[in-house]
Amino acid sequence: MLAGDSIGKEFAVTCFGESHGRCVGVVVDGCPAGLPLSQRDLQKEMDRRIPPKPEIVSARREKDIVEVLSGIFKGFSTGAPICTLVWNKEAVPGEYDQIEDVPRPGHADYPARIRYGGFSDYRGGGRFSGRITVAFVMAGAIARKLLGLFGIEVFAYAIEIGKIKVEKKLTIEEIQRNTYKSAVRCPDLELGRTMEKEILKAKSEGDSVGGVVECVALKVPVGIGEPIFDSLDAEIAKMLFDVPAVKGVEFGAGFKAAQLRGSENNDAYAIREGEIVTITNNAGGVLGGMSSGMPIVVRAAIKPTSSISKEQKSVDLSKMEETLIRVGGRHDPCIVPKAVPVIESAVAVVLADHMLRAGVIPKVLRKEK
Ligand SMILES: Cc1cc2nc3c(=O)[nH]c(=O)nc-3n(C[C@H](O)[C@H](O)[C@H](O)COP(=O)(O)O)c2cc1C
Repeated sequence: MLAGDSIGKEFAVTCFGESHGRCVGVVVDGCPAGLPLSQRDLQKEMDRRIPPKPEIVSARREKDIVEVLSGIFKGFSTGAPICTLVWNKEAVPGEYDQIEDVPRPGHADYPARIRYGGFSDYRGGGRFSGRITVAFVMAGAIARKLLGLFGIEVFAYAIEIGKIKVEKKLTIEEIQRNTYKSAVRCPDLELGRTMEKEILKAKSEGDSVGGVVECVALKVPVGIGEPIFDSLDAEIAKMLFDVPAVKGVEFGAGFKAAQLRGSENNDAYAIREGEIVTITNNAGGVLGGMSSGMPIVVRAAIKPTSSISKEQKSVDLSKMEETLIRVGGRHDPCIVPKAVPVIESAVAVVLADHMLRAGVIPKVLRKEK
């Protein structure tokens, strides 16, 4: 197993599979015994991955029925590694022959060819396909279930697509109620429809758009995180950057904090209903690499899909000649809608790992009689 295929110390996640190989799967090691868990729990999360409007996502329509191979018995996690997978049934052989020698600008084809000496499975981007994120979602489903037992909720939603941006303040209730009613996963439903048009416009021009996904984690206890080098924000950022197409991560006020004065940026303390809180949350719920007790608020910038049908410059590596490429195959004109549950899963996996590392989540949740 290559070291780079796993993440987490106590809730350790290893993903395997390629876009056009037989399957994509995940092994979750360290999930405490006694977590109520079933195939249905995983399937429910997997089904949220595919937005309801086929025109705004890739034409590849995998059914993605989750198979549980190990680690769940009689409706509970056993404490053994949980291995789950989905089979690739819609892979089209030959669909990606073009990119064997002509790397797509913006995709991983060229560095992967050099890094793996020409042996990597390039079909559909292989290991670098967005398809591998089904593994993130399966692991995230387990993590979210686990965190839920401890009152922690994690949810993500789209706040920007192309140049369309959510400006109005949304309540937690609105976000939770509306996100999955929107084809683009934007809780401002009206704006979501404008975002859909933005995606379709780019698609009709043989192009693509990017956007921003925001993720919130509620009720994370104070003091979670392992400074200095396993700080909570650093660990979340690392996993978010492991999501293909993520090019920027910020917490709370993020890059805007750089323009503020200390007096504007500091989150003043107060007591509300006997609890220490901060009046604002510019820190995004993390101070000194530890959770502050306020909601964790993190945003991931998603680049526009690199595989576009517009003509672009590339090189033919077999002939060492400059050439032109129009990327064929089935691609998402915007990655954001599918990335929403992936981002949510990535944050949940890191939080589950750190809750276990802090000893807040025990190794066994339900003792045998
Ligand atoms: C859910 C999801 C779906 C994606 N779909 C596509 C796609 O259809 N076409 C494409 O070129 N890239 C897609 N990507 C992005 C590529 O996998 C990614 O850009 C590539 O691996 C290069 O990595 P980088 O962008 O992080 O540098 C997708 C990413 C995610 C998270």
